[in-house]
Amino acid sequence: MSSFAVRSAQALRSATRRVPRAAAKIPMSAQTASYSLLARNAMSVSRRDVPLTRGMKTLDFAGTKEVVYERSDWPLAKLQDYFKNDTLALIGYGSQGHGQGLNARDNGLNVIVGVREGGESWKQAVEDGWVPGKTLFPIEEAISRGTIIMDLLSDAAQSQTWPKVAPLITKGKTLYFSHGFSIVYKDDTHVIPPPDVDVILVAPKGSGRTVRTLFKEGRGINSSIAVWQDVTGKAKEKAVAIGVAIGSGYMYETTFEKEVYSDLYGERGVLMGAIQGLFCAQYKVLRANGHTPSEAFNETVEEATQSLYPLIGQHGMDYMYNACSTTARRGALDWAKVFEETNTPVFERLYESVRNGTETRRSLEFNGRATYRQDLEKELKEIDEQEIWRAGKVVRSLRPDNLS
Ligand SMILES: NC(=O)c1ccc[n+]([C@@H]2O[C@H](COP(=O)([O-])OP(=O)(O)OC[C@H]3O[C@@H](n4cnc5c(N)ncnc54)[C@H](OP(=O)(O)O)[C@@H]3O)[C@@H](O)[C@H]2O)c1
Repeated sequence: MSSFAVRSAQALRSATRRVPRAAAKIPMSAQTASYSLLARNAMSVSRRDVPLTRGMKTLDFAGTKEVVYERSDWPLAKLQDYFKNDTLALIGYGSQGHGQGLNARDNGLNVIVGVREGGESWKQAVEDGWVPGKTLFPIEEAISRGTIIMDLLSDAAQSQTWPKVAPLITKGKTLYFSHGFSIVYKDDTHVIPPPDVDVILVAPKGSGRTVRTLFKEGRGINSSIAVWQDVTGKAKEKAVAIGVAIGSGYMYETTFEKEVYSDLYGERGVLMGAIQGLFCAQYKVLRANGHTPSEAFNETVEEATQSLYPLIGQHGMDYMYNACSTTARRGALDWAKVFEETNTPVFERLYESVRNGTETRRSLEFNGRATYRQDLEKELKEIDEQEIWRAGKVVRSLRPDNLS
């Protein structure tokens, strides 16, 4: 589909001209740089896409008014002053622990990490400069030392460790999550916070690795924020401030229920589960009809991720359609409806499976096993060994930027 590819390349070039580049390449010597870069990005986004006035908090999203909080309201000095008497105890050092912890530390806040001694996370934390006995502790000790307890263990581990954690969440502390999972599905997780602490949530809309890279680039990840329990009357303000501290650019208000339902649904859907399923189905049919692995991969994954999906991300679906040939547009417009109708019942089944706790129980059972890391690795290896992804490795190695 060469004309297709040419049009896409043209569209991408023109997109690149139209969109002010994120200041990704600018070295960040101080976190203030991060703030000013984000402010610049925020202004360029506002000029281009939505009538966003700095400081305005209620925005119109396709006819629905929503409240959005922005990082520029929290200059670094204000942030540091706000948390000057706090110790952020970050419990767990997976993807989110790494990203959120390093960002909050770079923002000059008092952060300590709590993980089980000798585990994979302990090693990782030491590599990232957390010092045993000073900023790195066993879980229970870190909770005792902290005023804001950021529970970033795996969701299954939050439930398993709760009997030991709960007595340490004493009056005046704040309990923080990045997912509504443990709290909303309390009948399954048995995580019930004491009544005299604020319970808040900041859920970055991306992997913890992205939380970190965007922060280092001077940008900020979108996050959801929510309050479950407000004892001090300051819970929401605190959620916004921590959201800024861990590297959020814009924060969208939600509830614990809405956050967990949409998140479990989305990752099982188009973010991860559905996309792997659709890629495999399309590839399989191409291969069954005699197409080579490279042709099937190029037409399924490579063109999607390298050419068309970035256009959707930058300018929306209609822009991507417009960047393609009239032949492509006609067929895609017709078949989009077929895919929507065929898949809507699957998404309805998925949402119900999330809402009724089936997905939660499955996650708790699987991720609560002592062998959860090895079991997961085995399943991911099976994906890695699928022909589609083996073919993908060769195609990727042939990208112009990978050739010396
Ligand atoms: N990753 C994302 O993209 C993402 C995005 C938004 C929100 N969240 C939420 O953020 C939270 C953390 O997620 P994550 O992806 O960063 O981490 P994760 O990979 O789910 O969990 C890893 C952490 O849990 C610890 N852990 C696992 N089992 C344990 C047990 N039985 N006892 C003690 N520690 C145990 C691990 O320690 P060891 O190394 O010692 O096993 C590690 O520190 C979750 O609530 C998740 O839903 C994640």
